[in-house]
Amino acid sequence: MKLWSGRFKEDIDRAADALNRSFPFDKRMFHEDVEGSIAHVTMLGECGIIDPAEARLVAEELRRIREDVAEGRLPLESDLEDVHTFVEAELTRRLGDAGRRLHTARSRNDQVATDIRLWCRNQIRDVAEMTLTLCDCLAKLGHDYADAIMPGYTHLQRAQPVSFGHYMCAYAEMLLRDADRLRDCLRRLNVSPLGSGALAGTTYATDRHRTAELLGFDAPCANSLDGVSDRDFALEFMSALSILMMHISRLSEEMILWASLEFRFIELSDAYSTGSSIMPQKKNPDLCELSRGKTGRVYGDLFTLLTVMKGLPLAYNKDMQEDKEALFDAVDTVRGVLCVFPDMLSTMRIRRENMRAAAGAGFINATDCADYLVKKGMPFRTAYKIVGEIVGECTQNGKTLESMTLAEYAAHSELFGEDIYDAINLENCLALRRSYGGPAPENVRACAADLKDRIAAAVAAFGTKEK
Ligand code: ARG
Repeated sequence: MKLWSGRFKEDIDRAADALNRSFPFDKRMFHEDVEGSIAHVTMLGECGIIDPAEARLVAEELRRIREDVAEGRLPLESDLEDVHTFVEAELTRRLGDAGRRLHTARSRNDQVATDIRLWCRNQIRDVAEMTLTLCDCLAKLGHDYADAIMPGYTHLQRAQPVSFGHYMCAYAEMLLRDADRLRDCLRRLNVSPLGSGALAGTTYATDRHRTAELLGFDAPCANSLDGVSDRDFALEFMSALSILMMHISRLSEEMILWASLEFRFIELSDAYSTGSSIMPQKKNPDLCELSRGKTGRVYGDLFTLLTVMKGLPLAYNKDMQEDKEALFDAVDTVRGVLCVFPDMLSTMRIRRENMRAAAGAGFINATDCADYLVKKGMPFRTAYKIVGEIVGECTQNGKTLESMTLAEYAAHSELFGEDIYDAINLENCLALRRSYGGPAPENVRACAADLKDRIAAAVAAFGTKEK
C-alpha cells in the first residue's frame, strides 16, 4: 500500500514501481531520516501542533527504531517506495495513530532535502579529514626529502633543479585547498530546508528555527520554494570532490611515470602493486591508474546532477531523486582512493640516487650558467645566447656543463672563471633558489613545517564544530 494511495483505484504497475522506487539506494540515509523526524516531531510537540506527550512517545520510538536497525533487529529491507515511507510505516506499525501524526506540517520534499544535507554534512567532514591525512603524509615526505635533488619539468622536458620534497609539498598545497573548499561548501550547506513543506510552507504555526537548531543547522533556509528545490550543496560538494580527484589524478600520473624503468624514481611496495597474468616480470601501478581513471567517474557524477538540475522548474520534481546515486557514488569513489593513498605513499621506496642522476643530465643548470654571466655584468639576453651555444656544443660532443674545461668556457666569454663550477653545481643551484616558495632545502623544510601548522588548523576547524 502506498503512502499516497488515497486517490488511486489501481495499484502501480510492477515495472513502473521498480523505476519509481528509491528505497534500494536512499536507505543509506536512514539515520539522517530518523534524525530529521525526531527534530520535526519534537518541534510539533513543543509548538502544541500535536500533543506533547504523544510527540515524546514518537521521538522515543524513532530512537528505538534507530537502535533496532543499528543492532540488526530491524533489517533495512522492504519493498516500500523510499526510506521516508519505510520509517513512517514502521513507526505506525508500532504506535498506530501516534505514528500517523508524524507527517503533520511536513512533506517528503522538505524531508528528503533535509536528509541529503545531513548526509552530505557528515560525509564532507569525513572526506576532509581523510584529505588532511593525505596532506599530512605529503608534508612529511616534503620535509624528509627537502634535499633530494630531482629535475623539475616543463613540457615533461627537464627544466630546472627542484627536490622531491618540493614536489610533495606542491601536492600538499593542492590538497589543503581541497579541504578548504570542502569547508566552504559545508558553511553554505548548513541551512535547514525542514518545514518548507511540499513547496509552500504550511498553515500550522511551526517553528523552523527550532528544527534548524535541533539538527545543528545555522538557520532555516529563507524561501520554501528554494528549500525543496535546491541541490547546490550537493553540486558544490561534488565539484570539490572533482577538483580533489583531479589533483590525485595528476599525482597518480606522476607516480606511474616515476615507477617506470624510464624514470625509476620510486618503487611502489608490493602491497600497492599488482602483477601480470602473462608477463612474469611485471609490477604494475594499478592503484594509481585506477585513481586516475576513477577521476573521470567522479566528474561523470557531477555532470549527472548538473544535467538533472538544469531544466527543472521550481519546485520539487521527481528528477531530483536522481541526485542520490550520483552523490553516493562520487563520495564512495573518493573515499576508496583516499583510503589507499597515504599508506601507498609512505611505503613506497624513493630512489634519491636515480633522481640525482637524472638531474645530472639534461642541462637543468643552464639557467644558472647564464645567471653566472649576468652576475658578472652581462645582459641576460646575451648570456642566454652564449649558454645556448655552449649547450649546443656539449650536446654535439657528449659533454655536460660540469665536464667543460675552463679553456672551453673561456672560448665563449672571458667572464668565465674557476668559480663557474660552483655556480653550476646542482647542490648549489638548489640551495641558492631561496626566493619565496622556491626549492632551496631550507625553504622546503620551513614550508613543510608551515604546512603542518596549516593542516593542524584545518583539522581543528573541522573538528570543533559539533554535529
Ligand atoms: N524519493 C524521493 C526523492 O528522493 C523523495 C521525495 C518524494 N517526493 C515526492 N513528491 N514524490 O526525491
